[in-house]
Amino acid sequence: MNRRYRKTIIAGNWKMNLTATETKKFAEELKKIMPRAKWCETVICVPACNITAAAKAFKDLRISIGAENVYFEPSGAFTGEISAPMLADLGVKYVIVGHSERRQYFCETDQTVNKKVHAVLNAGMNPIICVGESLEQRETGVTDSWIALQVKCALSGVAAERLRHCVIAYEPIWAIGTGKTATAEQAGEVCSNIRATIRGLYGARVARSVTIQYGGSMNPGNAAELLAQPDIDGGLIGGASLKPDQFLDIINAANQE
Ligand code: PGA
Repeated sequence: MNRRYRKTIIAGNWKMNLTATETKKFAEELKKIMPRAKWCETVICVPACNITAAAKAFKDLRISIGAENVYFEPSGAFTGEISAPMLADLGVKYVIVGHSERRQYFCETDQTVNKKVHAVLNAGMNPIICVGESLEQRETGVTDSWIALQVKCALSGVAAERLRHCVIAYEPIWAIGTGKTATAEQAGEVCSNIRATIRGLYGARVARSVTIQYGGSMNPGNAAELLAQPDIDGGLIGGASLKPDQFLDIINAANQE
């Protein structure tokens, strides 16, 4: 982490878990144990139907609300989809874009990811752009070029002054929900390369202002070591964000660094 140049952001990704009622209960439990002072920004990304409940429940805790997906058109005949202006109107601050589960199960491509990044920024919110390699890609040695390509595609056409609103989440697919974490060195190296890619596109000043998270089985046991890497500025946390005590332990790890 480098607090001088950029924000540290700990974000939960609840995926398709917890009802609105359970969201309220989670917030009540977290309230009992969470200290008031924290300097890292904390975000919880919830299913779209729980955004209103979450915004209300987490307000006192100064936790920002994130969405897990968005459609790129602002309005129109797209049955079942939710637009960026709709999310912004509910108080959503962050939107996860291009999570590997969406790329894998819902045909998300680098092109739709790019359109969504623009839609989120146009609506005044902050995209959390997910990139990551498969195990096969890691084993064949193409991780760096693959991730550089994903970053370049996602940011295509994004103006330099908008980069401070963008968060990149490095999530190796083989580490998501598997209990397998990249080592701190592996994760730190890829995050440094992501920053180098941004530097190549936008220059050093912009690159050092961008928050880069690690995601993939981050938990209370490995968070401190991962966050100690100079180019890892936070986490995108799935499983461990569903338990108030574990999520808080990760927030505390970020606050101690
Ligand atoms: P995990 O999920 O922490 O359960 O591995 C991370 C993510 O998918 O964002």
